[in-house]
Amino acid sequence: MKILLPSDNSIQEAADSLNRGDLIGLPTETVYGIAAVATNREAVLRTFELKRRPSGNPLIVHVSSMDQVEYLVTAIPEFARRLGEAFWPGPLTIVLPKSSTIPPEVTGGLETVAVRIPSHKVARLIIEATGAPLSAPSANLFMALSPTLATHIALEILEGLSLVIDGGPCDIGLESTVVDCAESVPTILRPGGISRQQIEAVVGAVSVNLPLERRAPGSYLRHYSPRTPFRLVDRLGPSDAGIVLTPPQNDNQIELPREPSRYGSMLYRTLFTLDQRGLAEILTEWPPLTPEWEAVWDRLRKAAG
Ligand code: TXA
Ligand code: MG
Repeated sequence: MKILLPSDNSIQEAADSLNRGDLIGLPTETVYGIAAVATNREAVLRTFELKRRPSGNPLIVHVSSMDQVEYLVTAIPEFARRLGEAFWPGPLTIVLPKSSTIPPEVTGGLETVAVRIPSHKVARLIIEATGAPLSAPSANLFMALSPTLATHIALEILEGLSLVIDGGPCDIGLESTVVDCAESVPTILRPGGISRQQIEAVVGAVSVNLPLERRAPGSYLRHYSPRTPFRLVDRLGPSDAGIVLTPPQNDNQIELPREPSRYGSMLYRTLFTLDQRGLAEILTEWPPLTPEWEAVWDRLRKAAG
């Protein structure tokens, strides 16, 4: 297994590998993914095995243009088109009725498919060089933290990849927002890189399905967790370890910015760092209870179980 920096050669090697049926580590603006050619059933099944993920938990299909979306779905309602125009390429995933191009292995048997056009330039170059839609779940083991740096991909995952393209740290750092557009009203199934307010500015009021376990099949309550016990508190004491919003009182306290998108971009990599230190417990100061923090609260609550 190789970790390669992006170049014309490495991008071509990634595309050749994918077209041979291999899995690769794909950088995106949200988190690193495990990419496979979405129409290769065998490669898709290996993605589930590698993540130790239940087969009913569907994958997101990544493409590089709106034209390609048309092949994957049978209908695009007006509001979905407006969301795509506003936020693609970017950290938004849209669920639509699937066409027969997408094998049932990708969608866990559902009649809908989740689609996203990532904004990470390297991700788009790899999709274009491959010439196929790519299924890509986050490159973590089921229930573990998602990697936001190539070096945070777990060894067990690396073993199943032919190569990883290291596209640097992920800017957004939290997974995409998943919006179900297969029904008459858009519904947010997973908060993420695009906020509810941004979505509502484009399509008006949306319904929100939180907690998510019922609609988004992959949204188990405990998720995105460090291995170290993790707890949310008002304020850390002088000898506690964890994430603070105020100046650190010891070396095992890491301060994150009081601004939700900057905090979000640092969250997983900070938890990863703390998780490596063999601490008894990681505490985290509860961020402000305002709507811009919705995606961060979602991940913190899930990490706390
Ligand atoms: O930011 C992201 O979305 C990253 C990067 C790699 O693109 N990918 C990602 O994939 O987070 P994954 O597999 O870890 O999460 C996909 C989420 C799951 O919660 C799944 O249930 C939901 O999308 N999903 C996928 N297809 C769906 C469908 N047809 N209907 C409802 N939810 C779906
Ligand atoms: Mg995931």
